[in-house]
Amino acid sequence: MIGREFRGIGVFLFSISGIINVLALTGAFYMLQIYDRALTSGSIPTLAALSVLAIGLYLFQGLFDVVRAQVLVRIGARLDRLLAPIAHRVTVDMPRFGFSTSEALERGRDVDTLRGFMGSQGPMALFDMPWVPMYLAFVYFLHPMLGAVTLGGAFVLTLLTIWTELRSRKLSLASQQANVTRGAIADSNARNAEILKAMGFVDRAVDRFSLANAEHLALQTKTTDIVSTYGAFSRVFRLLLQSSLLGMGAYFTIQGQMSAGAIIAVSVAATRALAPIDLAIGNWKGVISARTAYARLRETIVALSGATKPLDLPPPKDSVKIEKITVAAPGTGRILLSEVALEVKAGQALGLIGPSGGGKSTLNRAIAGIWPALRGNIRLDDADLSQWDGAEIGKHVGYLPQEVALLDASIIENISRLAPVRDPAAIIAATKAAGIHEMIVRLPDGYDTQLGPMGTALSAGQRQRIGLARALYGDPFLVILDEPNAFLDAEGEQALNKAIAGIRARGGIVIVAAHRPSVLAEVDLVAVLQNGRVTAFGPKSEVISNSAPKMPVNAPAAAPRAQPALVLAGVARKSSAGEGA
Ligand SMILES: Nc1ncnc2c1ncn2[C@@H]1O[C@H](COP(=O)(O)OP(=O)(O)OP(=O)(O)O)[C@@H](O)[C@H]1O
Ligand SMILES: [Mg+2]
Repeated sequence: MIGREFRGIGVFLFSISGIINVLALTGAFYMLQIYDRALTSGSIPTLAALSVLAIGLYLFQGLFDVVRAQVLVRIGARLDRLLAPIAHRVTVDMPRFGFSTSEALERGRDVDTLRGFMGSQGPMALFDMPWVPMYLAFVYFLHPMLGAVTLGGAFVLTLLTIWTELRSRKLSLASQQANVTRGAIADSNARNAEILKAMGFVDRAVDRFSLANAEHLALQTKTTDIVSTYGAFSRVFRLLLQSSLLGMGAYFTIQGQMSAGAIIAVSVAATRALAPIDLAIGNWKGVISARTAYARLRETIVALSGATKPLDLPPPKDSVKIEKITVAAPGTGRILLSEVALEVKAGQALGLIGPSGGGKSTLNRAIAGIWPALRGNIRLDDADLSQWDGAEIGKHVGYLPQEVALLDASIIENISRLAPVRDPAAIIAATKAAGIHEMIVRLPDGYDTQLGPMGTALSAGQRQRIGLARALYGDPFLVILDEPNAFLDAEGEQALNKAIAGIRARGGIVIVAAHRPSVLAEVDLVAVLQNGRVTAFGPKSEVISNSAPKMPVNAPAAAPRAQPALVLAGVARKSSAGEGA
């Protein structure tokens, strides 16, 4: 797709480069003509006419040069417009698969690198390269020996370029990697600013960053050393070559094998012949980074363009079936869930309980389609998650993660999931269901309050309720709540329970992971997750009475709070009574 779009422009650039390169012979021809016509005849009018002609040709060359540079910059901008959204999509997706934010942001920088390169001198070298033979032929025509020397010079310079490339490639890759590591540490330090301050280990965090920084610097210095040493060497070689050509030209002129004008013409043409190689050398770092960036972007574009948009299925309304799924940790590949099988029907709510690290959040992530299942299927109305279009299924899913993350945007944008058109009724229905409408309208900017980075304008409990409202927005069929009451007060818990009852009443499905049992009041099914396996699953009354003595739902956390309808208290009484009998 991109290839075809840019092919026409490529042909245009190639042609315009041809014109520029032919015009660049002006200087050489001018000198030849002056020596051969003006000087021999001693005619001032000839000299004047030649000069006017040369000036005109130079102006044209300049004009075409400007056009070419402007076209290249616009190609860069066009590429950027085309690639930036794709690259950002990859950036957004990478953390889900275990990459650091710093690594993920690298994709966006790849686009910048590419655009920067297109605006630099680098691509000019590429378009001038095919015209090198023309200049070589010109020099060869003036004197074969000089043509051979220029060719030899071009060959040596090319060899030098390849040699530098070979010597610096590994280093520049390592340096790039070190840069990512350094970025990851900086990122993590900034995120932990509060902890670093409160417990006074800012200095140590800075030291850790400095270490990574030093490593990056060392690699960077080494790479630059190689590239600049080679640059100096090739410059000296260029001077030598240029002078040799002049010297040899003088020798051949003395021998009567060519005219004095040809000496200067050779010098001018040889300079043009070597110019693209010079340019490539001068922009070598840019060429390398643009190439790496392009290769990475190509990979991701190929991967993304392979995916076809699935058929739009009717909205789910019957069931969620989890069929023997195995889920592995992204990045490490450690198995976190094995053979988990559950089924929840419309109007039911499933409570997930079990010890910390049991796999509740992992299961929630799998059902929400964040982490793919290695084996088994997750079906919404019998269609596997992979058969749904991402944006389409998103409308029917509400997800409240355990660690609520809010976008750096307004409350409205957060709750409505960045909907382009405001739907006040849907937003207020969601905030009322989450019991947060009154709190929002009391804020100075109300629904338009900007939440700041990571939602810092709100308290933890308020953030959780905004997250809940976002999960409830648009009455999705499946609502997944991960520890939704962790930061809630009694009033918030009541609202939450009402919301769960409301979803069930309208024929939706709720899946809720919980340590604090109050949230299980409105739940009719319970599954116990331990070590990534379901150890019990069924109606709440059965599961809890069977597993409560072995598997308390984190009773200590619940104990200090006065819970009017403590499911577990009832269960505990029931089971101890059972044991007693
Ligand atoms: N991003 C991750 N990468 C690798 N392993 C992970 C990741 N997240 C969780 N795990 C591992 O998966 C296992 C299950 O974690 P999970 O978060 O699902 O537990 P949980 O039941 O939700 O616990 P909690 O009650 O503390 O929230 C843990 O052993 C944990 O180490
Ligand atoms: Mg969890």
